[in-house]
Amino acid sequence: MPTLGTMSTLVADSDLSAAHFREISRTVYDIAGIQLREGKEGLVRARLAKRLRQLAIPTFDAYLDQVRADPRELAEMIDLLTTNKTSFFRESAHFDYLRDQLLPSLGAGPVRIWSAGCSSGEEPYTLAMVLRETWGADLGRRDVKVLATDISRRVLATAAAGVYPDALLEDVPAELRRRYWTRAETPGARGAAPGWRAADALRALVTFAPLNLMGAWPMRGPFQAIFCRNVMIYFDKATQQQLVSRYYDLLAPGGHLFVGHSESLSALSHRFAYVQPAVYRR
Ligand SMILES: C[S@@+](CC[C@H](N)C(=O)[O-])C[C@H]1O[C@@H](n2cnc3c(N)ncnc32)[C@H](O)[C@@H]1O
Repeated sequence: MPTLGTMSTLVADSDLSAAHFREISRTVYDIAGIQLREGKEGLVRARLAKRLRQLAIPTFDAYLDQVRADPRELAEMIDLLTTNKTSFFRESAHFDYLRDQLLPSLGAGPVRIWSAGCSSGEEPYTLAMVLRETWGADLGRRDVKVLATDISRRVLATAAAGVYPDALLEDVPAELRRRYWTRAETPGARGAAPGWRAADALRALVTFAPLNLMGAWPMRGPFQAIFCRNVMIYFDKATQQQLVSRYYDLLAPGGHLFVGHSESLSALSHRFAYVQPAVYRR
């Protein structure tokens, strides 16, 4: 005999209509620039059905009424439809370039790096490790900051907590883990190992903040580097074009834009000089 809970699950899972999907994808595109093309119905259904269950809302009709009436639920829906895959030292050639080419070329002035679409924090903490490793004690004499932003408050909460399960820290070389990570005190979920906590030496370099890339940007720059990797892949060409132009304007002359390895700028018209795959210079 199904319980009420399982019955409402069955209803919610099956009643995402074509009209619901169109409304959801139009809303997510208008606000966040994210394209949910035809074929993504299953993803939308799976991610939102869980939310409907949490709120004990039986149908997508009723859920969308709530989304239309409550800006907080609208933000929650968009958050749930972001894709947040990331890892430490992801596409590591970028961090080699930063360490070997870009950082050594900078003068003594302020250094500002932006991780735009930072997800759960692996990218900005990787940047912080590379900065510490490259400049060591010199960092104390320099004015260096990493700004890390994302539209999803859910992943930003993980980023700010800075605690990750053992398996994720496997991407961090053992020597760096020893230097910049300590054993977390609280046990992980379901009795898992407590995981690793980012040391204050990393946290002090990074500021996390919510920011929708489609909106106004409060920061003035200039930045020496912007990492916007595996974010533009979800946007259409017009949106990418606009974003890349805004990044150019916010970079210092000689500043670098790093994009994901599958996100070349070659189909866009832009003012950057090509440096190497997925690396561009203003
Ligand atoms: C796949 S993750 C990439 C994380 C990291 N940059 C990397 O390469 O590993 C993409 C991130 O972009 C964020 N995102 C998507 N649309 C956004 C928008 N309009 N404004 C800000 N962040 C956005 C998502 O929330 C997600 O966390």
